[in-house]
Formats: sequence, structure tokens, C-alpha cells
Amino acid sequence: MTIASPIDPKGQDFSMTDADFEIVSQYAHKHFGLAMSSSKKPLVSSRLARRLRHLKIDKFKDYIAKLEGPNADSEKNELLSLLTTNVTHFFREPHHFETLRDDHLPSLIEQARRGGRLRIWSAACSTGQEPYSIAMLLKSVCPDIDRLDAKILGTDIDPVVVQKAQAAKYPLDELAQIPREFKPKDLAGDTMPSSITSLVTFGTLNLIQPFPFKGKFDAIFCRNVAIYFDTPTQQKVWSAFQRILNPGGYLFIGHSERISGPASAHFKTAGITTYINTPAGGDS
Ligand SMILES: C[S@@+](CC[C@H](N)C(=O)[O-])C[C@H]1O[C@@H](n2cnc3c(N)ncnc32)[C@H](O)[C@@H]1O
Repeated sequence: MTIASPIDPKGQDFSMTDADFEIVSQYAHKHFGLAMSSSKKPLVSSRLARRLRHLKIDKFKDYIAKLEGPNADSEKNELLSLLTTNVTHFFREPHHFETLRDDHLPSLIEQARRGGRLRIWSAACSTGQEPYSIAMLLKSVCPDIDRLDAKILGTDIDPVVVQKAQAAKYPLDELAQIPREFKPKDLAGDTMPSSITSLVTFGTLNLIQPFPFKGKFDAIFCRNVAIYFDTPTQQKVWSAFQRILNPGGYLFIGHSERISGPASAHFKTAGITTYINTPAGGDS
């Protein structure tokens, strides 16, 4: 069945056939881990129709050929942006930051004061508000954090959002929403101060590919991205997080996400969508 498709002002018809949708959804699954059921077809069709118009391509078939062709990387990123959302904000789902501050950070900071490492990963960090929120939290509870071996890593599959995160520039009304207790004293204008940015490094990373890290993390925030993955992909990602977390490390996931599969034997619930890695296993 072919659904009614948007027709552009010049009368071009961008119909997306079921076969076109299937090819796009297989591509999205293979490259980004995204699961797209047929219910997403109207949304995907209308978003892609806009992209095709912009590229002056009049058939989905030709667009798909572009995605498979040489130099496809930038179009691949455009497609990812069309299929997912980058919505995020400072201190989103604030209970996670409270749990980190009250239940986990005290021992991590003590360990770092004795010369240990403190590593937190914001996986799928979008434009950086999440890792910078973690950095502001760390700085507020430990003003001399920059003298310890403490680092936050922010990664996302989309290089465009990673670049924005690195630029650390935000609309003033967004910065105004940072709770007063965490707002950096040296925040002036629209850019995160270096007292915060110096704690965070960024990189591009696709969660469905093997992780490149040598060391382990004390906490991982992976929020509001696994909802796009199908269950087998989610379960692989949960297991990969479990392996890369230190014993006792925390995993924070999005409000509509749940741990399932083999990793659930190791993750003990420690709050709303919050889990502790207990390699011995169990929820007991
Ligand atoms: C809704 S944002 C979540 C941002 C932040 N974690 C939060 O909860 O506010 C989802 C992000 O996941 C990223 N993403 C989608 N698929 C991904 C993948 N396979 N690997 C890494 N990041 C991915 C998108 O680029 C997007 O920036």
C-alpha cells in the first residue's frame, strides 16, 4: 500500500512506497540501531519528503542510492537527525542528579581525594546539557574538583550536536533555568565557563558499535535514546554498559526505558530508572 504523500508546490509527488520505507528502516537499523515500525511511515515519509525537496531529488529510490554511494557520511547524519530528536535540557529528570549527588558522589569523591579516578559518561549527550549538568553538580559539591582526577565524557552519534556541545553556547533563557544551587558563579553571557567545560570532553560514538574504552566508568547516563532501539539492540547496549561499569557503578536511563535481558541479572534497582552494577548479580 502506498500512503498519500506530500505534494510539493511544483506538483512533484514524493510517494514513499512500502518497499522504500523498508529500505530506509533497514538502513536506519543497520547504521544507527533504530527500530522503525510501519506506524512511523507517515512521519518518516513527510520528514524525508522535505529533505528530498531540499536536495532537488524527486524519487526516494535516488535518495537511497545517495545514502549507499560514496561520500554518504554527511547525508547519513542528516538522515539520523530526521529520524531522531535531539531534545534535551539542563538537569532533565532531576531525580537522577539528586541520586548521584546523595548516594554515589560522596564515596567517589573520597576515592578521588585518595588519588583514584572518577569517570562519568553521558552517552547520547545531544547538545551537551546533560554532561554539563553533571559537571555543574560535581563542581557544586566539590569546588576543587579540577585538582582531582575527575572527568566527564559526552558522546553522541551525531557529529553536528557534538560540535554544538563543544561550543557550549546556549540561549540565555535556557541557562536561566539552571537551578541556582548548581549555577556556576562565573557564568556570564551565553557560554558555559571554563571551570565547567574543562571537566568535560566530547566525541562521536555509536552505541550499537563496540565501545573503544580502556578504563571503566563509575556512572553512565544513557537517557532517552534506547527508546529508539529494538529490544535485542537495547539488551546488547545494557550488557555493554554493565561490562564497562565499575562494580557499584550507577546507570541512569530515560523515564520510559527499562533494563531487560542478561544485564538485568547484574543491575540492582536503586531509584527511579536508576541501577547499580552488582557483578555478583541479583536484585536482592
Ligand atoms: C533525545 S536525545 C537525548 C539527550 C539526553 N541524553 C537527554 O536525555 O536529555 C537522543 C540522542 O541520541 C542520539 N542517538 C541516536 N542514536 C544513537 C546511537 N546509535 N548512538 C549514540 N547516540 C545516538 C541522537 O543523536 C540524540 O542526540
